[in-house]
Amino acid sequence: MKRTKITDLFKPEYLGKEVCVMGWVRTRRGNKHVQFVALNDGSTVKNVQIVFDMTQFTDEQLKPITTGSSIKVDGVLVESMGKGQSVEVQAKSLEIFGTADPENYPLQKKGHTLEFLREKAHLRPRTNTFGAILRVRSALAFAIHKFFQERGFFYLNTPLITASDCEGAGAMFQVTTLDLNNIPKCDDGKVDYSADFFGKPTALTVSGQLEGELGATALGAIYTFGPTFRAENSNTPRHLSEFWMIEPEVAFFDITDNMDLAEDFIKYCIAYALEHCKDDIDFLAEHYDAELVDRLKFVLDNEFVRLTYTEGVKILEESGHKFEFPVYWGADLQSEHERFLVEEHFKKPVILTDYPKEIKAFYMKLNEDDKTVRAMDVLFPKIGEIIGGSEREENFDKLSKRIEELDIPMKDMWWYLDTRRFGTVPHAGFGLGFERLVLFVTGMTNIRDVIPFPRTPNNAEF
Ligand code: 4AD
Ligand code: MG
Repeated sequence: MKRTKITDLFKPEYLGKEVCVMGWVRTRRGNKHVQFVALNDGSTVKNVQIVFDMTQFTDEQLKPITTGSSIKVDGVLVESMGKGQSVEVQAKSLEIFGTADPENYPLQKKGHTLEFLREKAHLRPRTNTFGAILRVRSALAFAIHKFFQERGFFYLNTPLITASDCEGAGAMFQVTTLDLNNIPKCDDGKVDYSADFFGKPTALTVSGQLEGELGATALGAIYTFGPTFRAENSNTPRHLSEFWMIEPEVAFFDITDNMDLAEDFIKYCIAYALEHCKDDIDFLAEHYDAELVDRLKFVLDNEFVRLTYTEGVKILEESGHKFEFPVYWGADLQSEHERFLVEEHFKKPVILTDYPKEIKAFYMKLNEDDKTVRAMDVLFPKIGEIIGGSEREENFDKLSKRIEELDIPMKDMWWYLDTRRFGTVPHAGFGLGFERLVLFVTGMTNIRDVIPFPRTPNNAEF
């Protein structure tokens, strides 16, 4: 018989029918007359109850069914008399795919801490919590493509191996095939990269933006959605060394268009998750974050506050609040500052714009004041920065000057500057950290819990 996914069993058309279910056992309980197995197959957070009438099965047959084992059951789907479920399967036949020795299977009891599960990341997708998170993550990924495709954006794949440092932060993972125990050197003692695979130093990308701009200034509107790597040694609940970023880039857009797009985009994703992941979000709300659904709806129902960095710093300075990191005009805002503005002051998501040029990347459009650039950061409750973006400097001379000032090797940037040399246009874009969005939507508090296999300093297990 063809397998039915557990998520489909709750649809009316299966009631009273013969079904075949397969999955992993969550629990088995009962007595010598009847045994109940809670089965989950990952298709939904809900388990289905399998009822074994012990006049038809032997103890010997059911003995291997312990938590974590995998089974196949043929039976009839009937309405359930018991509490906690609407339907159940009355088993007719049983096949055991694999056992899970109770002595060794790590996910025995319920209620493991998230920290414990991080060390069992190879098995944690089998828990209700991670099942829910991973399904929400998948739905959000689909929503992102849907949002952009419906608006005529083209999906552009930008390289993961690159020779340019987009954010200029120098936090890149080098890519090399040189023998690290026997590095070829030039006469001046420096590494001879001409002997390396690409004939020059290369690294994993920190952002697809620069290539994204090449796409946008040809196709009009593009988005990227791919892995991004940052070798910053920041062990925080919001940083990963490998994360996924979505970067739309649009020709003929200014910073206001960009802010509108960012706000519409985030709201679309949240609304999509609320509509399509109700069971999972309700589960996460019930177990981890009672205010989750209200917080998600609150973001949908409110316009984001828009103000300049200068205004934001003034509010922080005048707040009288004691921050760990000092706040003054010119300081890079820390998460505590961002969250103060969002959670304490405005009590709404905030878009801060026009940051001092010194604390932002080289490509941002310079304002008339010569001091600030057309940057925009979207700040969210519990998260801080969720989006970073800007209108780009489209003027060749101004951009070249900035590249020189920052001592960025010009010869490596020739192809980027060609966008400004030939048919330059105003354009803007931003980057959304996918895991920060998943954090927000799932109500989790540590970014390590919203990506299947997190990469962080000193951790590349699994
Ligand atoms: O602000 P960032 O560094 O901006 C850029 O990379 C631009 N090139 C984007 C653009 O304009 N196209 O990063 C963008 C977003 C941040 O707002 C944050 O959500 C996320 O990426 N992010 C991280 N997420 C997880 N771990 C990290 N280490 C992250 N660094 C940035
Ligand atoms: Mg940023």
